Amino acid sequence: MKHLLDIADLDRDELEGLLDLTSSFAEVQRRDIPKVPALRGKTVVLAFFEDSTRTRTSFDLAARRLSADVVNFSVSSSATRKGESLRDTVETISAMGVDAIVVRHASSGAPQQIASWTSASVVNAGDGWHQHPTQALLDCFTISRRLGSLDGRKIAICGDIQHSRVARSNVEAFTKLGAEVVLIGPRTLLPPSLEGWPVKIETDIDAVLPDLDVAYFLRIQQERLSDGLFPTVREYRELYGLTRARAARLDPRALIMHPGPMNRGVEIDPEVANDPRSVVLDQVAAGVPTRMAVLFALLGPGRFDIPTDRTPGTGEQ
Ligand code: NCD
Repeated sequence: MKHLLDIADLDRDELEGLLDLTSSFAEVQRRDIPKVPALRGKTVVLAFFEDSTRTRTSFDLAARRLSADVVNFSVSSSATRKGESLRDTVETISAMGVDAIVVRHASSGAPQQIASWTSASVVNAGDGWHQHPTQALLDCFTISRRLGSLDGRKIAICGDIQHSRVARSNVEAFTKLGAEVVLIGPRTLLPPSLEGWPVKIETDIDAVLPDLDVAYFLRIQQERLSDGLFPTVREYRELYGLTRARAARLDPRALIMHPGPMNRGVEIDPEVANDPRSVVLDQVAAGVPTRMAVLFALLGPGRFDIPTDRTPGTGEQ
């Protein structure tokens, strides 16, 4: 594996390999010194052309806990602002001899394009509406930790599917790992064609709630309101939000998930976000070992090998 651009590039074995590796790194996280020397001497550049506190911080910590050197490339003060093309920016970064570039970009396909301009490994940290593969991996890890596995589980993803890279990555990953996925949302927020998607569609959330193992809610982006895709936030909450009444109809063992940042009171009611079934903070916590697993798989000596001494890398602390 040279890059991680799209969940579609991974088969089930590779997904499971990454989840196993994530478990090893989750174990490292629980140590007094949650750091291993696996990527000592490697340099990871975080190139976030679109802002994101949680994803950037998580990649930053992951790289540092593998002892890599981390460079935070700041777009606001970069030459891109002075009119430099994306290609020149990428070639400039690569010429300095970096091993991996973690890319977040508002345009779908930007990480793929960047991968064709550099010899470094490229990790997609979210591109437009397209993909957010490490989010899907950390979500799969969170579910398998809580429920044992995804096989045969019924998962609903509810909200703005059309504009969601999280939905696209998760549909792919969840179904590859054997889950049954149903997408829920108003017609205006579902893609116009779902041909080829291995999913069921539902516009009435109440029809499916009691049967779910996982209820996954997406953020409603405020800009969709001005696009006229739904009339008011209040109406959206009434029809699709996880209200207290709806949460009461979910199975007591079901998981409530959200990629963050949450709009409390829109897609999820404030008190429901703190429900004991909510694993939102588990998802955040899974971000670091997941990204350690990805960086290690791309840059580490052992690729997918899970170290027998339970210390990824050389075994020293
Ligand atoms: C997600 C994203 O940016 O795609 N958030 C994240 O990675 N922290 C989901 C979202 O912004 O709604």
